[in-house]
Amino acid sequence: MKITPIKTIDEVKKLYKFMVDRYNQETRENVLIPFPLSETYIEMMGQVEQKEKLQFKAMIGDDIAGFITTSDKDKNGSDIYIQAIVVSIKYLKVGVGKVLLKFIEQKIKKAGYKIVKIKEREGSNVFYMKSNYVPYLYIYSPNAEVAAKVKNNLLSGMEFVDEYEKDGKYVTKIDVLGEPVCKYKKYFSSLDDSISSEYIYEKNLTKRYSFT
Ligand SMILES: CC(C)(COP(=O)(O)OP(=O)(O)OC[C@H]1O[C@@H](n2cnc3c(N)ncnc32)[C@H](O)[C@@H]1OP(=O)(O)O)[C@@H](O)C(=O)NCCC(=O)NCCS
Repeated sequence: MKITPIKTIDEVKKLYKFMVDRYNQETRENVLIPFPLSETYIEMMGQVEQKEKLQFKAMIGDDIAGFITTSDKDKNGSDIYIQAIVVSIKYLKVGVGKVLLKFIEQKIKKAGYKIVKIKEREGSNVFYMKSNYVPYLYIYSPNAEVAAKVKNNLLSGMEFVDEYEKDGKYVTKIDVLGEPVCKYKKYFSSLDDSISSEYIYEKNLTKRYSFT
């Protein structure tokens, strides 16, 4: 398998087609979070313009085995998001995703970032956790009063990590101790229907893990 940076508009167009075809092949019953196809295309095109490209494709012969790309949005001095990692249906579960993720993590570390984040997608949480990503529940409240209600009503098995204001929302970050459970999200929205939430998987690249 050969991994190379995604550098040209032509490559991005081919990978976009690969991603759309791949999604059309999948049955997606009960999918709550739609995959951001057009957002990923825009992010990838944006990186083509930049000097530092943190996006790579994996080829097996003439086949696209998969690709991985980061996101420019929400990037700050130490954190960066994986925008997408997509592996061909033909090459699923043979290690392509793991290799791509490891490869980009090394490049990300070299570029000076410390924390890699990935937003939750159905069916991929086991994959992230096997690569030492830790799930955190992020709760978004419209005001300080609702945020206080969140903080005062944590369930056992949850640990408060941080709270801050971002884009007009009050964000509460909760450690769910490795248990990304859907009912936790429902629980918080039942406290107040103005609350929204998501899981974000994080890996600290400066830490050593025993299972890498
Ligand atoms: C998620 C995805 C990238 C995984 O790619 P992959 O190449 O099949 O994963 P790997 O073969 O490298 O798997 C690594 C480990 O995760 C496990 N794993 C991968 N997918 C899994 C799944 N759906 N359910 C359970 N375990 C899974 C593998 O068994 C393997 O475990 P091991 O290390 O104990 O052997 C791939 O399923 C995919 O393209 N999904 C659709 C796109 C998507 O949702 N991307 C993520 C969000 S951007």
